Amino acid sequence: MSAADKFVAGQNEAAFLDLVNGGTSKPLEKRWGGMVFAGITGGAALALSVICLPFVSPALRRVCLPYVPATTSQVDNVLRALRGRSGRFVDLGSGDGRIVLSAAQAGFSPAEGVELNPWLVIYSKVQALRQGLSSKTAFHKKDLWKFSLKPYPNIVIFGVEEMMKDLEAKLEDEAEDGTHIVACRFPLPTLKPVEIIGTGLDTVWLYRHQSP
Ligand SMILES: C[S@@+](CC[C@H](N)C(=O)[O-])C[C@H]1O[C@@H](n2cnc3c(N)ncnc32)[C@H](O)[C@@H]1O
Repeated sequence: MSAADKFVAGQNEAAFLDLVNGGTSKPLEKRWGGMVFAGITGGAALALSVICLPFVSPALRRVCLPYVPATTSQVDNVLRALRGRSGRFVDLGSGDGRIVLSAAQAGFSPAEGVELNPWLVIYSKVQALRQGLSSKTAFHKKDLWKFSLKPYPNIVIFGVEEMMKDLEAKLEDEAEDGTHIVACRFPLPTLKPVEIIGTGLDTVWLYRHQSP
């Protein structure tokens, strides 16, 4: 029934709403309410996708290195492997920064992290600020495969098995003689470790790099 027909039929309120709202008898506030609701839910879904994408995107890479934080005993094993050492330190794929922050507390300076996920980089920087370690730490939002390892005498990696062969080649190309390398959970495939610390998933392998 058109607005004019409703008017003739005495349905004045419905006809008026039809004229005002462009052909629907729904009150204007209800239509606005629907649009605001759609806008809020759409915006929230978009924001959620933007936040989640960096956590999901490792699965789309050639080697999937997901975010799995080190356990407390894994962190302890890393520090045991590097006891007596000092100077520059880097954790490749630093996650929430827990290994970097523990290294800074143990006296490594600067202790640095390389991490692709921007949210984890921001989180790490906030944690460094809260723990008063900002001046002793640095977090780089970079791809570890494009990051030069040359300046670092202490290198830590908590990787996945599929990446260790390529990582070993990168270390052999870039690391200076005497560099201490700690691999968590998965060893380097051919280098001989000088020490193995811990058991099970928390095992770490310590290597001392020497050019052939
Ligand atoms: C297994 S987690 C280790 C986190 C941290 N090192 C720890 O032990 O708590 C690996 C981290 O590497 C990051 N990652 C994956 N691919 C990367 C890349 N190409 N460059 C830098 N970081 C990467 C992931 O986002 C993830 O936070």
